[in-house]
Amino acid sequence: MQAVVLVGGEGTRLRPLTYGTPKPMVPVFGIPFLERTLMRLREAGVTEAILAAGYLPNAIREAFGDGSRLGIELTYVVERAPLGTAGALKNVADHIRGPFFVLNGDVLTSLDLRAMLAFHRKRGGLGVIHTIRVDDPSAFGCVVRDSSGRVAAFVEKPPRESAPTDEINAGTYLLEPAVLESIEPGKAVSIERHTFPALIAGGGALYAYLTSDYWIDLGRPEHYLRAHRDVLAGTLRLDPPSNAASAARMWLHGAANPPAHLRPPVFVDADVTIEPGATVGPYAVLGAGSRIGAGAAVADSILWDGVVIGEGARVEGAILASNARVGDRARVRVGSVIGHDARIDADADIAEGSRVSAIEVAHT
Ligand code: GDD
Ligand code: MG
Repeated sequence: MQAVVLVGGEGTRLRPLTYGTPKPMVPVFGIPFLERTLMRLREAGVTEAILAAGYLPNAIREAFGDGSRLGIELTYVVERAPLGTAGALKNVADHIRGPFFVLNGDVLTSLDLRAMLAFHRKRGGLGVIHTIRVDDPSAFGCVVRDSSGRVAAFVEKPPRESAPTDEINAGTYLLEPAVLESIEPGKAVSIERHTFPALIAGGGALYAYLTSDYWIDLGRPEHYLRAHRDVLAGTLRLDPPSNAASAARMWLHGAANPPAHLRPPVFVDADVTIEPGATVGPYAVLGAGSRIGAGAAVADSILWDGVVIGEGARVEGAILASNARVGDRARVRVGSVIGHDARIDADADIAEGSRVSAIEVAHT
């Protein structure tokens, strides 16, 4: 079985995190998200994953190579210019040998891929779209289906008032190779705006596979934070941290001292230093090699590797990319996203929802 993982997007909504890291490589509890996706594919019996890449492809290639470390064969196909979600599939058509999974590269879900394959074998048709119900479908593809489960309409990101359903495209498909024949080669084509609607209009049979699985698109900072919160709260099991040794919802790798200042749930990766009087948590994820200064407080936040928080600084509801440094007594408020290597001055006050990248200097 093969899968195509769409990993070519620029991840604009996650900037500045995605200036240095392509969206699929953003870490989730210390492991690149794409690595988790590839492990999931392998466990479902997928032996080859084709990575349809474009933006920062070398970061992906350097991490996974031919896939032997992960036990899955990897093929990289890099677009010179973005081909869109269907153009990217057409671009890998030469590699496809039978029915194949397609995964949006930013979706975290507990979907059982084997069950989806079994559903497709039972229903037949050109393919299956995994769907879930959400409160606000306007940021997604709406999937309208008839009582037999056959897709009657696909409407990408409709205005909220005119959304035809609350059932949305969850970004995992199982497609027959025939779908590729309908995509024009060599140009940018959207599967959501063009290919699916055209197939449906032409009488092609696509089926919706509605589940109530855990599902989140990590492509926005608030969703990336929420996914971590959900794992820490036990709503979603992920390994690690779920299967790592944890005492009272504290996942600690190596020396995190002194534990008295950890307020669970927290995840502390290897080689982290927490100075006396600092408080960490609840809902804090500290990346490997990060350092929390004396008297500092970090809550509801995700720190990537090598982040340094100065003495007495306060960080709440924020994401800090690798090697970001927050000066002494500085304050980083809810919704802030701090890029790789960014420096925040001592005593600075970073307003709610700020995006700070290394090229800017963040003063008070
Ligand atoms: N190779 C390649 N080339 N990949 C691309 C390109 C491209 O030109 N454009 C986007 N992608 C990849 C992204 O990297 C991502 O993994 C996936 O395609 C979807 O793109 P997003 O930019 O994340 O789309 P979205 O989240 O706004 O909407 C999509 O996902 C929703 C579910 O999360 C659509 O498929 C919606 O219909 C769906 O509901
Ligand atoms: Mg997305």
